[in-house]
Amino acid sequence: MKQAQIIAPSVLNANFLNLQSELTAIENGGAGLVHLDIMDGHFVPNISFGPGISGLIGKATKLPLDCHLMIDNPELFVDEFVKIGARYVTVQAESTIHLDRLLNRIRELGAKPAVSINPATPIENIKWVLDSVDMVLVMSVNPGFGGQSLIPYCLDKIRALREMKPELDIEIDGGIKLDNILEAKMAGANIFVVGSAIFKTNSPELTCREFVGTVSA
Ligand code: DX5
Ligand code: ZN
Repeated sequence: MKQAQIIAPSVLNANFLNLQSELTAIENGGAGLVHLDIMDGHFVPNISFGPGISGLIGKATKLPLDCHLMIDNPELFVDEFVKIGARYVTVQAESTIHLDRLLNRIRELGAKPAVSINPATPIENIKWVLDSVDMVLVMSVNPGFGGQSLIPYCLDKIRALREMKPELDIEIDGGIKLDNILEAKMAGANIFVVGSAIFKTNSPELTCREFVGTVSA
């Protein structure tokens, strides 16, 4: 597998009252991206944070920002996320009727466009834009919350996508643990979002390093 194996901790379940040290911990732990879950209470039944706090996080870490937009009308917000320096701007395929136009706009603005699909959404729904994105995020839980269990059929979707696109960066998001990350890697994922399995431990730094060591072996 040629792609870099990258751990992208999600700060959704981090201690926001101590966020600077949580960010330093994952930097020292060898993370390659910081995953930001943007939720609007409409596309998903939860509310997190927006471009303002994302910009503050961007200033507080050396890690590139991996912005996962679980929002309706993402057209209204992609410019803001590019402006705060996002490396990846990921939109949900189910959240817009002009996906092609939106992905091209993200690229024109200078960020890496990516598309995410919910567990029940078939890969066929995005097949015509696979050449317009730098990454596909395959949700392995129903979006909205951390700490859920990985839905096994999502690994079959990753296998099928890896077969279709051997070179593409494939990100898996939801329910990744030390005891299932290698299965996700063997299925074809190379970027791994990890939330509660890192931040709900005594040492996010040591745990992050363990994840990095596991996928790099
Ligand atoms: C869920 C989010 C995920 C979540 C991952 O909608 O997109 O990024 O925070 O958390 P864990 O790893 O705990 O499932
Ligand atoms: Zn996410």
